Amino acid sequence: MRQLLVLSAVCTIAVVLPAAAQDAGKAQGIAAQVCAACHAPDGNSIAPANPKIAGQFPEYLHKQLRDFKPQAGKKPARESAVMMGMVANLSEVDMKGLATYYGGQSLRPAAASDKELAAAGQKLRASPPAPAATARPERACRPSIPGSPGSTPSTSPPS
Ligand code: HEC
Repeated sequence: MRQLLVLSAVCTIAVVLPAAAQDAGKAQGIAAQVCAACHAPDGNSIAPANPKIAGQFPEYLHKQLRDFKPQAGKKPARESAVMMGMVANLSEVDMKGLATYYGGQSLRPAAASDKELAAAGQKLRASPPAPAATARPERACRPSIPGSPGSTPSTSPPS
């Protein structure tokens, strides 16, 4: 019985791995051919207008990509004329693969080019947070992942 279990586990891995490797390869291809122009090959964008996406949480990146897409005829949750065009032809699998790819890259932090804006940000960071922001901080910061503490279940159990 144990041998059978081990064998079936090995078979499952053998079937799943090539598909996952293919998806990862496809995502890397899209990253190199499409996204690199603005976000650089490893996600460490050089132009300040394009955010650095290297080393971000994959869940966050995935959510942003989904949010750039118009859903069911509605306006996208996150509006960006540039990024809406970029995600238009991406499938769910592509977006997941891209999020995993960029999430796995190392962020190379850069010094702020706008010194005034950086100083204003530092000042804000040093001041105590407003009460509203402290009430449920995880709601404000966490991406909405099913099952995560910050997310609302899409279907509520019968009460
Ligand atoms: C023509 C330039 C351009 C290209 C090409 C491009 N992006 Fe973007 N990307 C942007 C800009 C500009 C923003 C900021 C959008 C905003 O917030 O208004 C952005 C934002 C993002 C964000 C959100 C980052 C954050 O910190 O919230 C992700 C994720 C992203 N892009 C991924 C991609 C991926 C994946 C591709 C390739 C399929 C891609 N981008 C191609 C310009 C580009």
